[in-house]
Amino acid sequence: MRITTLPDTMKILKSLLIAGALATGAANASAQLADITYTPSPENIRARQQFSDSGFGIFIHWGIYSMFAQGEWYLQDGLTAHEYAKAARGFYPADFDADKWVKAIKEAGAKYICFTSRHHDGFSMFHTAQSPFNIVDATPFGRDIVKELADACHRHGIKLHLYYSHLDWTREDYPIGRTGRETGRDTSKANWASYYGFMNRQLTELLTNYGEIGAIWFDGCWDHDQDSTRFNWELEKQYDLIHSLQPACLIGNNHHWTPVAGEDIQIFERDLPGENHAGFSGQEISTLPLETCETFNGSWGYRIKDQGYKTTRKLIHYLVKAAGMGANLLLNMGPQPNGELPAVALGRLKEVGQWLADNGETFYATTAGDFPAQEWGTTTRKGDRLFVHLLTPSSTDIRLPLTCKVKSAVNYADRTKVKFTKEADGSVTLHLASLPADTHDHIIELVTSSK
Ligand code: GLC
Repeated sequence: MRITTLPDTMKILKSLLIAGALATGAANASAQLADITYTPSPENIRARQQFSDSGFGIFIHWGIYSMFAQGEWYLQDGLTAHEYAKAARGFYPADFDADKWVKAIKEAGAKYICFTSRHHDGFSMFHTAQSPFNIVDATPFGRDIVKELADACHRHGIKLHLYYSHLDWTREDYPIGRTGRETGRDTSKANWASYYGFMNRQLTELLTNYGEIGAIWFDGCWDHDQDSTRFNWELEKQYDLIHSLQPACLIGNNHHWTPVAGEDIQIFERDLPGENHAGFSGQEISTLPLETCETFNGSWGYRIKDQGYKTTRKLIHYLVKAAGMGANLLLNMGPQPNGELPAVALGRLKEVGQWLADNGETFYATTAGDFPAQEWGTTTRKGDRLFVHLLTPSSTDIRLPLTCKVKSAVNYADRTKVKFTKEADGSVTLHLASLPADTHDHIIELVTSSK
């Protein structure tokens, strides 16, 4: 979909310097990165294209918090880090089977998995030498989950992305931010140099011991977005380290700013690019590949009460709308404490997978449509073909605000012709024989002159 070259990078920096939105974060970032340019390596450019073409990934939030079944922020709920950490000794996900997860996800048509290697509670789901608070040394389970997942992903040809929290509610060397203030830490022990070194050594482990890692997905810089003085995350050195270890590894950061130098993808949380229902967006849309993350129900980590899983129709619509804007969808699942993915979510995923198996040509490796989403749906493009996705048509006449010429139009499923007329203002109207049956997405394929 989108490839960034050096001039694009410069554009990003410039836009960052003048960005008014999310002023504190952007100001922090621009101050840190004003003099920095970043030229992605050829393998990184290829990885970006592959990422964009893949369209759909599954996010997995899993840690010892799943045992409390209250979501991944449970440590914030008046617990001390010391008491919370005791849960590790009871973590034994007897039904965890990495192959089973990866197979189900692959069958759903997703092309990558983003897994929480370490969330805000500071617990590492991989065997790290940097802290005993990890899946191998602190639990009776004693198996390296990241390793098993990485091996299964590599076996099945699925990319593995790793979520990594910049903030930590347990470590005393992490300079406390606006969250995790009640976890009982001795704040006088804050030591950024120590914490930064810890993170970089962990990232080195992740990028050395687990084969190819498709992306590092950072989260948590917003923890210091209300500081009175600028907090320096030293991102540039950290990003350099990652790219020096694996040049093709994409870096994304859910900091809620416009991307800064060294980042390879732009992330949106719970909103399509350009929208802001969740209150985390408003940042400029860059020329980098785009991804938005969304929950299957309403929670990231497993929350036993939250059975509000989105319908198959809603999920398909979200996928298509994201593709219509040139963005990937990273859809989250929170595994149960026993290691299984929730059955309801798996059932829905299967149906999404069936839809993608039938219609993937109109979704994968497409670029954004020719015009913004309309009330009836949206469009995706592949070369001279424009796919019109009728998600909720209410009329048999569909007006397309096109600037290109339409050469032919057929119903995608059965290749029957669709009549169309060119209007005086240059737009095109499709005339459907009848209102389409409710198939979630009725697709019409147009061949057009170049866009
Ligand atoms: C937010 C939440 C975090 C979650 C992330 C996923 O940043 O704090 O818990 O992992 O969103 O996008």
